Amino acid sequence: MTRRRPGDLRSHRWLGVSDLRSFGHRARLRQFGFDKPDWEGKPVIAIVNTWSDMNACHAHLRARAEDVKRGVLQAGGFPVEMPAMSLAEPFVKPSTMLYRNFLAMETEEILRSYPIDGAVLLGGCDKTTPALIMGAISMGIPSIYVPAGPALRGNWRGQVLGSGSDAWKYWDEKRAGNITESDWDEIEGGIARSFGTCMVMGTAATMMSTAEAMGLALPGSSSIPAADSAHPRMNAASGRRIVEMVWEDLTPARILTPAAFDNAIRVHMALGGSTNAIIHLVAMARRAGIALDMQRFDEISRQVPVIANITPSGKYLMEDFYYAGGLRALMAEILDLLDLSCLTVTGKTIGENIVGAKTHLPEVIHPLSNPLYAEGATAVLTGNIAPRGCVMKPAAAEKRFQKHRGKVIAFEDYNHMAREVERDDLDVTPDHILVLKNSGPKGGPGMPEWGMLPIPKKLVKAGVRDMLRISDARMSGTSYGACILHVAPESFVGGPFAFVQTGDEIEVDVAARSIHLHVGDEEFARRRAAWTPSPPHYERGYGAMFSQHIGQADEGCDFDFLQAGAGIPEPEIH
Ligand code: FES
Repeated sequence: MTRRRPGDLRSHRWLGVSDLRSFGHRARLRQFGFDKPDWEGKPVIAIVNTWSDMNACHAHLRARAEDVKRGVLQAGGFPVEMPAMSLAEPFVKPSTMLYRNFLAMETEEILRSYPIDGAVLLGGCDKTTPALIMGAISMGIPSIYVPAGPALRGNWRGQVLGSGSDAWKYWDEKRAGNITESDWDEIEGGIARSFGTCMVMGTAATMMSTAEAMGLALPGSSSIPAADSAHPRMNAASGRRIVEMVWEDLTPARILTPAAFDNAIRVHMALGGSTNAIIHLVAMARRAGIALDMQRFDEISRQVPVIANITPSGKYLMEDFYYAGGLRALMAEILDLLDLSCLTVTGKTIGENIVGAKTHLPEVIHPLSNPLYAEGATAVLTGNIAPRGCVMKPAAAEKRFQKHRGKVIAFEDYNHMAREVERDDLDVTPDHILVLKNSGPKGGPGMPEWGMLPIPKKLVKAGVRDMLRISDARMSGTSYGACILHVAPESFVGGPFAFVQTGDEIEVDVAARSIHLHVGDEEFARRRAAWTPSPPHYERGYGAMFSQHIGQADEGCDFDFLQAGAGIPEPEIH
């Protein structure tokens, strides 16, 4: 491909011509104190920054933007920092998932409406990664993703604590009366010790890793702890690289092929990654005009063993993974399963990027010959209550639930569930199946991470720590247990999951990939006829738009009008 010249840049239309409008643009740059040598003939690089005072996972990104700027300047570009919505997983309600598409739209439109030639995407907290990438794909200019990086290990009295996972674990111990209020307070102070994302293999680490595996981030970047000095160096290197990517016109469309997505899914499986990645990867693929469905995850899950020994499927944390060699080492372990010819942001192939990568701690990254789980990071089940599928992470569940038939306790919504599970007289046994309805994309709304339903208090006190739970919600990547999620279509829109009732029996067979409600056809039809829809949650604003246009889980929960299509013309400049 021929190298681009300054006159080919998008920004040339704003800054490089001679008319009244470009006079205004240049005059306003001079208002900042910039002058011609700052921009003339140089790619304008947007650093899309999702830093905010309410997002501890991104607390370092203000400083990191300066590192990226340093790299851009070194390579002869003109860096500009553009703030975008910060989706702090713990704070944003009702769910960050409600706003993933908002940030994707914001990213796309920032890049389109300003004189931007290339983008550096700074983020890492769960939905941020897919949102930034979805926006960049739709805009189509050269873009490089810079992972925020995981936080340091948590610590409580010398014991390692993992984000989320150990909060769920010790919360149950507290509910069971096994730890005190002051223990719990100490855990609160020790579980999040530095800036950076959750440091288990939750959604953040999964999405940062899969973005790198797809070729959208520098090799090895996703595993670097946020607080390590290698992180700002990686940021500067990304700044240098994006300038070259602009000259090479290395766009996401050249990187994101079906094989690149397959590589990402294979890495996701080898990591034992978060189920949320399924929704996000489907959404990203659709933005790129690639047909990807949930069945592909199931197919690849059967071929790729879990080799990363990281919580919640394993024992270690992201800091250990980095010391063990990080994602490059993991990819080198599954070399024969990857398509090594895929192009990446380096301008080289995945195969070239991982040459020489080695595992230093085999207890953290197992060899293929000794996997943690032979297969089954993700299973996609279908059946009469989930005709378009639902997902489970068998590796994170007690084995006995891989084939299980049990009586249902059904909850109509989250509040109903939250009240009932605390009742000491709830008629429940460890063999019961808990069902949570109205927690999907429209019903939640925003498909909240309610899928790891709390074990009823009565059972927790008796020592029960896992039981089968089914919902149309998602679950945090830090969660674990026998949770079946993403039931599609969701109950709120009248999917057959809406017709499950307390006292019914459900049978799950993971090996057969099936889920079945044992209710006769006539009774099923009667319940369907009696079902009445609830009104949408929002009548105005973004929520109303969300309710009207959001797709189901198997479609990636993108808005119908944002998926790949005719494209959007460049803005007129006059
Ligand atoms: Fe930000 Fe988990 S809360 S990554």
